[in-house]
Amino acid sequence: MTTTILAANWKMHLSPSEARAFLDTFLPLYEPTSGQEVWLFPSAVALEAVANATADRTDIVVGAQNVHWEPGGAFTGELSVTMAAEAGARAALVGHSERRHVFGETDAETGKKIRALLSGGMRPVLCVGEKLEEREAGQTAAVVQRQLSVLDGLDAQSLGQIVVAYEPVWAIGTGRTASADDAATVHRAIRDRIADYGVTATDIPVLYGGSVKPANARAFLQEPEIDGVLVGGASLDPVSWSEICRSRVD
Ligand code: 13P
Repeated sequence: MTTTILAANWKMHLSPSEARAFLDTFLPLYEPTSGQEVWLFPSAVALEAVANATADRTDIVVGAQNVHWEPGGAFTGELSVTMAAEAGARAALVGHSERRHVFGETDAETGKKIRALLSGGMRPVLCVGEKLEEREAGQTAAVVQRQLSVLDGLDAQSLGQIVVAYEPVWAIGTGRTASADDAATVHRAIRDRIADYGVTATDIPVLYGGSVKPANARAFLQEPEIDGVLVGGASLDPVSWSEICRSRVD
């Protein structure tokens, strides 16, 4: 059985002092719980504050929202894997729909970021998901397969470091969610694709993201195909985030 991952993507919210205040409230509300981990993705400038405030919690993983694939150089505004690691990051989001559709990140760039993270000993969280028009055109499976193809050529040990997050673009920040059933169907297709690499697909956690809230988190987490959730808006409030983190066991 894989460990359940409850991941919070804070996007461009929560400054270092706001992140510390969040943790002052959240940590007493959420005790380490067997079989699950909490992954926090703060802004780059808050990474160190969050890593320091959670240093004694082995059940909490801190990650970067984005990294560049080059180790350094003239790349104004970018963050290298080594810089993120030194600030306390052990994972990073890759290919989030906002990176793809607002900032034009391509599959090729996503693939380079994954390889840079693996070389730096960090776990990539590869986000995949279709846009509404792609879903309506029946292209969900094809889009997700194409986005997953950046994993082609990785060896079994590298694949074992990957987390996949299925986030249908039409469900992000909209209040619309895929049904747990619909999400499970896509999750199964993701696992079938991963199984093609000759690794045990159940070893790779597949998370669901898109308008997850305290009221619906349990339905997703109860679905055997879903190994965790990646949450935006509802992770910004420490009380609602603690409710989501407890919803599998409460
Ligand atoms: P919301 O939970 O706000 O829909 O955001 C989901 C998301 O993009 C997490 O990465």
